[in-house]
Amino acid sequence: MDDLTLRTVAIIGGSSGIGFQVARQAVNEGANLILIGRDIGRLEVAKTRLQTAGGSVTTYVADAHDHAALEQLFDEMPQVDHLVSMVGDVMGGGFVTAPMAVIRHVIESKFFTNVRIGQLAAKKIRPGGSLIFTSGTGGRAQDACASYVGNLGINALVEGLAVELAPDIRVNAVSPTWTVTPFWRDMPAEQLAATADRFANTIPLQRTAEIDELAQAYLFLMKNGFITGQHIAVDGGIMLGG
Ligand SMILES: NC(=O)c1ccc[n+]([C@@H]2O[C@H](COP(=O)([O-])OP(=O)(O)OC[C@H]3O[C@@H](n4cnc5c(N)ncnc54)[C@H](OP(=O)(O)O)[C@@H]3O)[C@@H](O)[C@H]2O)c1
Repeated sequence: MDDLTLRTVAIIGGSSGIGFQVARQAVNEGANLILIGRDIGRLEVAKTRLQTAGGSVTTYVADAHDHAALEQLFDEMPQVDHLVSMVGDVMGGGFVTAPMAVIRHVIESKFFTNVRIGQLAAKKIRPGGSLIFTSGTGGRAQDACASYVGNLGINALVEGLAVELAPDIRVNAVSPTWTVTPFWRDMPAEQLAATADRFANTIPLQRTAEIDELAQAYLFLMKNGFITGQHIAVDGGIMLGG
C-alpha cells in the first residue's frame, strides 16, 4: 500500500460530509490537502479544523457545475497526487413523474460535470496517483430515475478513464447509499430520523453507515496501487435485499 505522507490530496467537496472525513483521515496520514467548494465560510471552518489536527490545507472556491469556473480552478491548482470528486446532486421520482428540468440537472451534475473533471484531472494528477469519483447505490430507476442514470454514467466513466489514463493514473469510484451527513441539512429532524430507520430496515446489515466507514474506502483506493476501473459499494448490501 502506498503511503500518503506528503502526498497532495485535492477534494472537490472537501468542506463537508464524506469529503471532509476523507480530508481528516488523509491529514492524519500526513497528506497535504486542497479543499474545493462553493461556500467560502464552510471551507474556512473545515480548513481551521484540519489545521488544528496538524494539516497543511489550501482552499479554492469554485462551483463545479460552472465548467468555466472548473477550468479556471484546474488552471490555478498545483499538480496533485490524488483527486476526489464528491460532486453529484440527487433527486427522487420516476421517469414519468419527475420534471425534465430535474432529470437534466441531476444527469448534468452527476455525469457531465464529472466527465469534465476527469478530462481536466488527466493533466493535473501526477503519475502513480489516482482519481476517485462518488457514485451511489440504493435508489432504483423507478424511484430516483436521474440519480440512477447518473450513477450508471459515473460507473461507465470510471471504466473508460481507467483504461485511457493507465498506466499513470488509476480511476475508481466509491458508492455510498443513504447516510446521515450534512447533505440532508434542510430535512426536518423527524423526517431524517424516519428515513434513517427506513434505510436501516432495508439494509441487510440493519443500519446506515458511519461517515468514517465511507471515507476509509476512498483512502483504500488512493493507497492500493493495483485497483483501477472499480466502483466499490459501501452500502451494507442494500442492493442485495429483496
Ligand atoms: N449522504 C448521502 O446520503 C449520500 C448517498 C449517496 C451518495 N452521496 C453522494 O456523496 C456526495 C457527497 O455527499 P455528502 O453527504 O458528503 O454531502 P455534503 O455534506 O453536503 O458535502 C458535499 C460537499 O460537496 C461540495 N459541493 C457540492 N456541490 C458542489 C459544487 N457544485 N461545486 C463544488 N463543490 C460542491 C459541498 O460544499 P458547498 O456546498 O460549499 O459547495 C460539500 O463540501 C454527493 O455527490 C452525494 O450525492 C451521498
